[in-house]
Amino acid sequence: MQTDSHTYNQPDPATEARVEALLAQMTLPEKIGQLVQLNPFGPFDPDEYDRQKAEAAANGRPFTYIPPLRHDMEALLRAGRVGSFLNVMLPGVINHCQRIAVEESRLGIPLIAGGDVIHGFRTIFPIPLAESCTWNPPLLERAARVAAEEASASGIDWIFAPMIDVARDLRWGRIAEGAGEDPFVGMAMARARVRGFQAADLSSGRRIAACPKHYVGYGAAEAGRDYNTADFSERTLRDVYLPPFKAAFDAGAGSVMSAFNEISGIPATANPLLLRAILRDEWQWPGVVLSDYEAVHELIAHGLAADLKDAARLSILAGLDMEMVSEGYATHLADLVAAGDVPLALVDEAARRVLRLKFRLGLFAQPYTDETLAETIILRPDFRTLALEVAQESMVLLKNEDDILPLAPPTRLAVIGPLADSHADMLGCWSLHTHPEDVETVLDGLAAYLPADAWRYTPGCPIRASEPTDIAAAVTAVQDADVILLVVGESADMSGEGHSRTHLGLPGRQQELADALAATGKPIVCVLMNGRPLVIPRLAAQVKALLVGWHGGIRAGRAVADILFGAVNPSGKLTASWPRAEGQIPLYYAHKNTGRPAAAAGVKQFAEYFKSVYLDEPNSPLFPFGFGLSYTRFAYSDLRLDPPTITPEETLVVTATLRNVGSRAGAEVVQLYVRDLVGSVTRPVKELKGFQKVTLQPGERRAIRFELPAQALGFTGREMRTVVEPGAFRLWVGPDCRGGLEGSFTVEEAHRRG
Ligand code: GLC
Repeated sequence: MQTDSHTYNQPDPATEARVEALLAQMTLPEKIGQLVQLNPFGPFDPDEYDRQKAEAAANGRPFTYIPPLRHDMEALLRAGRVGSFLNVMLPGVINHCQRIAVEESRLGIPLIAGGDVIHGFRTIFPIPLAESCTWNPPLLERAARVAAEEASASGIDWIFAPMIDVARDLRWGRIAEGAGEDPFVGMAMARARVRGFQAADLSSGRRIAACPKHYVGYGAAEAGRDYNTADFSERTLRDVYLPPFKAAFDAGAGSVMSAFNEISGIPATANPLLLRAILRDEWQWPGVVLSDYEAVHELIAHGLAADLKDAARLSILAGLDMEMVSEGYATHLADLVAAGDVPLALVDEAARRVLRLKFRLGLFAQPYTDETLAETIILRPDFRTLALEVAQESMVLLKNEDDILPLAPPTRLAVIGPLADSHADMLGCWSLHTHPEDVETVLDGLAAYLPADAWRYTPGCPIRASEPTDIAAAVTAVQDADVILLVVGESADMSGEGHSRTHLGLPGRQQELADALAATGKPIVCVLMNGRPLVIPRLAAQVKALLVGWHGGIRAGRAVADILFGAVNPSGKLTASWPRAEGQIPLYYAHKNTGRPAAAAGVKQFAEYFKSVYLDEPNSPLFPFGFGLSYTRFAYSDLRLDPPTITPEETLVVTATLRNVGSRAGAEVVQLYVRDLVGSVTRPVKELKGFQKVTLQPGERRAIRFELPAQALGFTGREMRTVVEPGAFRLWVGPDCRGGLEGSFTVEEAHRRG
């Protein structure tokens, strides 16, 4: 179900006229004020915190700390020196600041309130990487809309999401926030989430602008170390990292956030190729470019700017519209214009874009938030139901030996592991409102299926080795169990921003715990609660079933139980490859063939001398992109490509038959891959060009149809322009990136057809 959503990029003469009329009245300081986004709060004040906490206790109401505003905030608002602020999730504070801006400044230009709503506002959904494993864009659009409902009801106009950085390095903690390794999946999720955030009929009657981020190439941080150098070719920029942003803009996104990282020597925040040549000249995109947090100031550390004034100059010249927090524009832009170092026209253009967005958001007409609305919207039962549905569809079954799952009561369970009873960790990274009390843990989920005497729980060990461990108690606890349910993984703060890891196995002594349990000979069903793919070959071999639950949001525990006991048939599929060893990273399916390809991935390639192989591991992932098991089984047949030859202007129709040959209903993600066998530049061995999620009853068969325009085969050619080249292609329709039904087709120039 696609709801109507706002787009902010179509020209609108009425808005343009209002923008120009307002701009003409503005002084230079007022124009610059529109380019300034601040954190409105002052430093943490422990006395004020204690005072508010005591007052809440005395009045018997829940305590939410409201920090005092920075000392100069109200004066800046009155003087029209602030255009926006961020991460104020308190409608009363937002209205207070808005009232000053609108009613006490000379021109009454409203503020735009931005915030990080990455996978839910208060109804926390699974982390976005998990959400992408649903392969269900309409579902994610609904989830994003729920986030927009709660955020808008709380006074937010601008959501700093979706995060759409293609990520192929699991060491990078922010892989948790995106849609994995593939541009095509990234594009689909970008469109869905932009449409959801910008939904047209929010209960608040207000609007939200999405802010896809981080533009661009942030996921290519060398060595997976956050904020590190990204260095890749313009071709990789255009064919891998840009497509999700173009999809977001085509879906109507009204803004974009520039990334911290440099790309091949020029930081994104002051990069004219990105901010002007591509965004404005090539794409004609009219939206607002917001910097990431103090990214302008960071140009000094990068060694691109000598000081903050220089950083402000480089940023505005490159095309950055609004500066997040670091105040280079606020402090230096007027002087730079006065000195002739920055043309006034650039300030006008940036202010024009900000005003245009504010008009399109309706902020001039309706600047204030109904402060009574949030309590009727937040955590609505239908929102919590959707959070469960997304969690169920995001979980990926990687192993199910002897069909040990679903569990059949009265199985006596011994539940072991630190993640089984953790509320906070289910919220994952970027859940700004930490309300662990909203979370259902795995233990809560089990309670919905089993009487209390049918299972017992022993943590066995903490997530971090620094806390006390009692593995012996866990071994004792499993003695009279039929099945061990082992729930392990990462804590929420082991992924996300600034949380990269070099060792990607189970943290702490969790693997030691698994070893001890495996030594008992009891069957182990393992559930991972994690923020990234993990390097777990030993664990995967030890357990009979392996379910990836991710940091699954407030309903994670119930979703796990629904799958373990068969109420839900798992349908999630991986959107990031799972390596056998850290040494394989970066590991992704859409790799190049090289001049010395290994004969066949997945087998030890020691016998292949002088080929692109390792001595100690196969090239293949432990679990491949697009892979996920079901409790039923699907059969593919009858592949047809029609016509087998197409011109660059035509469309190939691909059909196949999918059958549910198992004993229960299930959903299959049918994937379409192509390979361009010969190109003017080397091409990946496979590229995803289509997917469909199909639910079939037992025995049911369905004709699956893909339409593949030849233009979708385009790539960046030698002249750095998109080209569709004649030639031979292979094509696969199957359950994951490893294969399936295989066919071939040709693209040829029309004239050759005679
Ligand atoms: C952070 C993140 C960005 C976020 C911004 C505001 O550093 O990089 O994703 O939106 O700052 O919190």
